[in-house]
Amino acid sequence: MTGRLEGRLIGLGVCGSIAAYKAVELLRLLRAEGADVVVMLTPSAATFVGPLTFGALSRHAVETDVLGLLPDQRIGHIVVADAADAIVVAPATARWLGAMANGIASDVVTATCLATSAPVLFAPAMDGDMWTHRATRDNVTRLQEAFGYRMIAPETGSLASGQEGIGRLAELPLIVDAVVEAVAGSPIRAGASARPPLVAPSHDPDLEGRHVVVSAGGTAEAIDPVRFIGNRSTGRMGVAIAEAALARGAGVTIVAGRVEVPLPAAATVVRAESTAAMRAAVLDAVIEHPADALVMAAAVADFRPAAAAVTKLTRGEGMTLELEPTEDILAEVGARARARDLAARPVIVGFAAETGSLERAPDKLRRKGADLLVANDVSEPGSGFGTDTNRVVILGADGSRDELPLLTKREVADRLLDRVVALLDERRG
Ligand code: CTP
Repeated sequence: MTGRLEGRLIGLGVCGSIAAYKAVELLRLLRAEGADVVVMLTPSAATFVGPLTFGALSRHAVETDVLGLLPDQRIGHIVVADAADAIVVAPATARWLGAMANGIASDVVTATCLATSAPVLFAPAMDGDMWTHRATRDNVTRLQEAFGYRMIAPETGSLASGQEGIGRLAELPLIVDAVVEAVAGSPIRAGASARPPLVAPSHDPDLEGRHVVVSAGGTAEAIDPVRFIGNRSTGRMGVAIAEAALARGAGVTIVAGRVEVPLPAAATVVRAESTAAMRAAVLDAVIEHPADALVMAAAVADFRPAAAAVTKLTRGEGMTLELEPTEDILAEVGARARARDLAARPVIVGFAAETGSLERAPDKLRRKGADLLVANDVSEPGSGFGTDTNRVVILGADGSRDELPLLTKREVADRLLDRVVALLDERRG
């Protein structure tokens, strides 16, 4: 049975009330209905229940700060405001009702509600006298009548003060039902790429004590001081491999060509724009220094201008560029690694971006002396440059062929690292 919130993104705003602990269960119920949930905490909510709990259960970074940025530098709460199908504030405190009624965006929950055009729901929880105070009544009226927010009214029962009265957070299934009703009939607002990213589940530290070198991005070959020959690589696949290796405990060096995505701060980064610079950096990291694996995810130029002009070329009459082949970095490292004893040899992984058939891939694996080759058809939808997903085949020097389904680049990275770990365990005993 599919959940009533399948495919939806729900923003869950939590304020500082004793009832904040119930928001953990509310998060679980929303997820059980199929929703992807991002949690926003006010500073005092975080003193009742920490972001770790909400982060682990939602698999999203928790928004606690209006100045917080996502890993790709987007402003976290604005992404939630723009992508959420609904925002539910539960528990909503008397302070929050006052802040919201007056548009005071000093905490991330209020700021997100101000910035969204999605339906907003709120479920108050507070002491009975606070609830019946004229200020609270006026604020609630303003939220409902002027802003169109839906309230899930508090109930009567025993309160945190020990007294009986009105002010208890509504029963959680009622809150879930209200969210379902609020989004019913409206299309899903945003797909995965417009949402805050999911945090990958943690992995065994099976690369602890290992050094993994990853090349990422595209190389650029100068035509003159202004122009270059480049390619469409964004570095996403290489960065996903570096992040996955870091999460598995490896020390990681990224040899980065031109990349469009942020590089993980925990990696050592060597910039290498041209093929010649990338060759020098890769040989240094893998051959001159001990490395356990090289993953050549970079899209390396096959040709470069035979001579780059020293000054900017003018338009003139048009021009003919003479190109010469570049050094094959992977083939060189592959050959040098194979000259070593198996026990001391790094695992060498190549990539083969093809258009159409992958039939040349086994030959490429042999030619380049790689242990593994990750082949994909970049012309296939969802695969290749600039996407978050990839469908690949992992070929092994042992003749194995592992056809993976369409996966996120991070999942592809982990499947590839599983193979790298297995080979390292074989070699290093
Ligand atoms: N590669 C490399 N140095 C180069 C070109 C490619 O190290 N000068 C690496 C890439 O990083 C990739 C693998 O070799 O891991 C395969 O790249 P690809 O461009 O598919 O191979 P080519 O050698 O260009 O083969 P072809 O032109 O026949 O497709």
